[in-house]
Formats: sequence, structure tokens, C-alpha cells
Amino acid sequence: MLACSDIGSGTPLVLLHAFPLDRGMWEPQRPLSESCRVIAVDLPGFGSSAVDPGFTIDSAADRVADLLDSLKLGTVALGGLSMGGYVAMAFARRHPEKLSRLILADTRSEADDAAGRDNRDRLIKLTEEFGPSKVYEVMLPKVMSDETQKNRPDTVAFVRGIAARQSSAGVIGGLAALRDRPDATPGLERIAVPTLIVVGEADAITPPALSESMAKRIPGGKLIRIPNAGHLANVENPDTFNRSLTDFLEG
Ligand code: MLT
Repeated sequence: MLACSDIGSGTPLVLLHAFPLDRGMWEPQRPLSESCRVIAVDLPGFGSSAVDPGFTIDSAADRVADLLDSLKLGTVALGGLSMGGYVAMAFARRHPEKLSRLILADTRSEADDAAGRDNRDRLIKLTEEFGPSKVYEVMLPKVMSDETQKNRPDTVAFVRGIAARQSSAGVIGGLAALRDRPDATPGLERIAVPTLIVVGEADAITPPALSESMAKRIPGGKLIRIPNAGHLANVENPDTFNRSLTDFLEG
């Protein structure tokens, strides 16, 4: 079973983290537990969840569904950021009956292209050779906005600390799952629950234009741009991120 934290009470909000992080990245969302039950999940191979040799984005969505069953939850609001968003879209496709609302943050529906897949293979080799933190050092320049990286060393250290505690096997499994993930674009039109799409205005990994195109395809999709934030909008501008989620969940 996937590891998770579970705080607060009321409407369940399930949160899925980015790569190569774990549920600790949702710490700035702790205030949301004043108005709902926040369940932050470690995806397979990350944080306290065991490595799953068969880890794919689709299988991760099924493991999240198993977790919700074990917690005896009916429908939930599900939010995922980047890799977590890929899993959330797979969940919406595979377990729509468990979904009441969807939040897609700093993510994209498209699969990797050939260059993207080659890059995953390169990062797998780097991890095998130099360990998991090497991957993050390669990714870091793009993960947070220039402004965050220049002026907010505590935020950078917080994220780096989460990346540094992941295992090689977890990171390699994650890279393979990201490389092989399906194109989620055709499924967007079938999403039948209210959906919030959130993106940092300075997101360099999944730029706002990709969020705009997802918002157009999802019936009932609503887009919010988060100022003063790059790819990790929930960490870089938690006040605006949290307010957007609260308004959406209460709306
Ligand atoms: C993430 O933040 O989860 C990753 O950047 C996703 C990706 O590399 O596709």
C-alpha cells in the first residue's frame, strides 16, 4: 500500500507529488487541512512507498485507487503537480467513479517526444553512475523560477532536501515511468468533474501555454496562473496556490 499522511477532516483532498520528490513537498499546503481532510501520498518508489518494479503512470493511478479503498473513501478531490498530474489524469481515466473534483498543477497531457525519451534514458544512466541527487542538480535550474532561485534560498533548500532523500531505484523507476507514459490528451474531453488547472507564470518545464490548451479541452476546466512562481507553484507561492484551491473546493 502506498504511504501517505492524513490530516484534517471533512472533504478529502488527495495530493500527488512531482518528480523526484515525495509527499513532503505538500508541507506548504498544511493550512488546507483547516477546511478539508488532506491526504498526501508517496508515489511508488518515493518517500516511504516501496519501489514497484512494474511502476507506470497508469499502475500508480491504480495504487492510489487501492489506497482510497483501504481508507474507505468514496469520491475525493484529487490534485497532482507535474508527475502527480500525469497520475491524476490516469486516475481520471481509469477510476472516474472515485473522483469529485480534479486539480492539475504545472503539468501537461502530452507524452514525451523522442528527444524527451532520450533525455530520460540519459538521466537514468546519470543516476546509475552518480546517484539520485545528480538528476536533481541537472533539473534544478528549471524547477523553480529565477526569482525563487536567486532570492529564496530557504525554498530552494527545502526542495533540494526532499530530492536528496530519494533512492536511486525510486528515481530510476520514476524516470522510466515518465518516459513511457501515454498521451493523456484524448482523455481530457471525457473528464466530467469540475477541474482546476493551476500553473506558475514562470513555469519553464510545463509552460502556461500547455495549461491553456488543457483548460480548453476539459469541459468545465478553469485555469489560474500563479504569479511569482515557476514549476513548483505550490512551494513558490503557497498563499495564492492555497487560496486558489480553497476557492475551487468551496465553489
Ligand atoms: C515533475 O516535476 O514531476 C517532472 O518535471 C515531470 C517531468 O519531467 O515530466
